Amino acid sequence: MRAKLPVILLKLCLNSFHRASRGKSALADDQLHEHHGGNVVKKAIIIGATSGIGRELSRIFTQNGYTVGVVGRRSELFPELQEEIPTRVYFKRIDVARTSEAITLLDELIREMGGVDVIVISSGVGFINPELNWEQEEETIDVNVSGFTAMANVAFKHLCSRGSGHIVGISSIAAIRGSGDSPAYNASKAFVSNYLEGLRQKAGRLKIPIVVTDIQPGLVDTAMAKGDGLFWVAPPEKAARQIFKAIRNKKKHAYVTRRWRVIAWLLKAMPDRMYDWTYSRL
Ligand SMILES: NC(=O)c1ccc[n+]([C@@H]2O[C@H](COP(=O)([O-])OP(=O)(O)OC[C@H]3O[C@@H](n4cnc5c(N)ncnc54)[C@H](OP(=O)(O)O)[C@@H]3O)[C@@H](O)[C@H]2O)c1
Repeated sequence: MRAKLPVILLKLCLNSFHRASRGKSALADDQLHEHHGGNVVKKAIIIGATSGIGRELSRIFTQNGYTVGVVGRRSELFPELQEEIPTRVYFKRIDVARTSEAITLLDELIREMGGVDVIVISSGVGFINPELNWEQEEETIDVNVSGFTAMANVAFKHLCSRGSGHIVGISSIAAIRGSGDSPAYNASKAFVSNYLEGLRQKAGRLKIPIVVTDIQPGLVDTAMAKGDGLFWVAPPEKAARQIFKAIRNKKKHAYVTRRWRVIAWLLKAMPDRMYDWTYSRL
């Protein structure tokens, strides 16, 4: 009985959290969705949408009828982005690495948009850092780990309060194994993928239909794709199209582009000694 008590208490807590979140559903459906000529307009926030994959994703979301909220630090790019998109876009300048401020600002954006259905966390930095320059290691952790977690925290709580929704994290194929040239980057992406799995599990336990999608891109032709000998580099439009399809199909996980699943499989299957040997010869 003593062994069972913590389990019972845990279940009670979870159930009451579940009831509370359902009960205080902050936004009625009518409030959440704008109606245009009888069509319900869904809403999405893309964090890290001033360039690269996130920018392409915001374009695709709007083309598919979503109202979009764009987040990034380079607010000077917002007018240019609005010109590319024919419908109204919500903008918010957020530095995810300043976590307390970022949490308040993302909450504010969600409120301004009257609630959202989908939150994509694409913000990220990456450095080839064989010298282990501390500033670069630290920035990677601040943005890709602390910043990501802060944004995922706001997203999860918002979707719990409205009773459903979708969280998407842009991790990387780099999450699968460590890298001597960019240890913090690979470790940060392992954190992202693992954290997303945890959130998916949590939503399942709470019986709240929140879909959690882990996107693991290979190489995409953006400012971030650095280094020599790059291969299978996808245009950002193609990567974003495949990511949108994975989101629409409510996938738990997707490699982007799809052929990178072969590399993923190899990386996972490779014994440590073979991986180290291969790495030392690259
Ligand atoms: N390109 C690839 O080959 C590749 C492969 C695997 C995974 N990924 C992942 O894909 C995601 C998108 O990267 P990308 O390739 O599209 O590169 P990118 O063009 O450099 O885009 C990165 C985005 O993150 C935002 N960002 C960076 N630091 C931020 C901060 N502190 N606060 C808020 N936003 C911040 C940037 O906006 P601001 O600078 O305006 O803040 C920008 O919009 C990243 O998470 C990356 O790790 C990329």
